[in-house]
Amino acid sequence: MTTPSPLIELRNINYSCPGQNSPLLEEINFSICEERIGLIGPNGCGKTTLFQIIMGLLTADRGEVLLEGVAMKDKKGFRILRRKLGFLFQNSDDQLFSPTVLEDVAFGPLNLGSSPEEAREISSRTLEGLGLKDFEERITHRLSGGEKKLVALATILSMQPKLLLLDEPSNNLDPETRERLIGILRGLDQAHIIISHDLDFLASTCSHLYTIEKRHLVRCKEKQIHSHDHIHPYGNKPHQHGT
Ligand SMILES: Nc1ncnc2c1ncn2[C@@H]1O[C@H](COP(=O)(O)OP(=O)(O)OP(=O)(O)O)[C@@H](O)[C@H]1O
Ligand SMILES: [Mg+2]
Repeated sequence: MTTPSPLIELRNINYSCPGQNSPLLEEINFSICEERIGLIGPNGCGKTTLFQIIMGLLTADRGEVLLEGVAMKDKKGFRILRRKLGFLFQNSDDQLFSPTVLEDVAFGPLNLGSSPEEAREISSRTLEGLGLKDFEERITHRLSGGEKKLVALATILSMQPKLLLLDEPSNNLDPETRERLIGILRGLDQAHIIISHDLDFLASTCSHLYTIEKRHLVRCKEKQIHSHDHIHPYGNKPHQHGT
């Protein structure tokens, strides 16, 4: 029996930013099948760039992106790849472009061939699952930062991708909505890679952690269970933290 190819594989990816002398990413080798991965690292180390390379929005100087064992050679290949991956942008304003929330969330399913009725049904269901039942007719550009983040997530989930690439999904979310998002992500079937600076969020949603260190992607040592003093407004009431 042959082992199935990873959903996404990166082989020897090297990338330099335009106008920069030294490379940003070097010899990146990585594959993902079913895992839930967290990606951490300092500002500017290349996390978002790595997602853009996987999606074919940036072209590596060297190396290959493979989808289910097939190297993506051209725009057509990456178009097929983008149908299987859902990319949540770091900045939601880059992701949302339709006048209303429903139009934005239905755009993906319509593009993938759903009828208008099906697209509406999928979109309503997706919005409801994210706690955004009454948002369908809201004007997208007037939403708050956190609302935009959740609607942007809905535009991705409505396309039922096989892998989610989420760039800082918990940014701008209040503590309650952040907890709700953790529950939603834990309940999804898809594999995901989440970029975040929120280590507790990653501890609750991911099984492995990676970082970019000296231009290389490296797996972090296993998580250590630990406790630390913390403070928040409801700290005197009984409460739980994610494990
Ligand atoms: N088009 C470009 N031209 C020149 N430099 C660029 C370009 N795009 C990105 N960079 C640089 O590449 C580096 C990596 O950017 P990237 O957005 O991948 O970082 P990041 O790890 O996601 O950081 P953050 O945690 O702040 O989101 C940054 O120093 C950025 O200024
Ligand atoms: Mg980034």
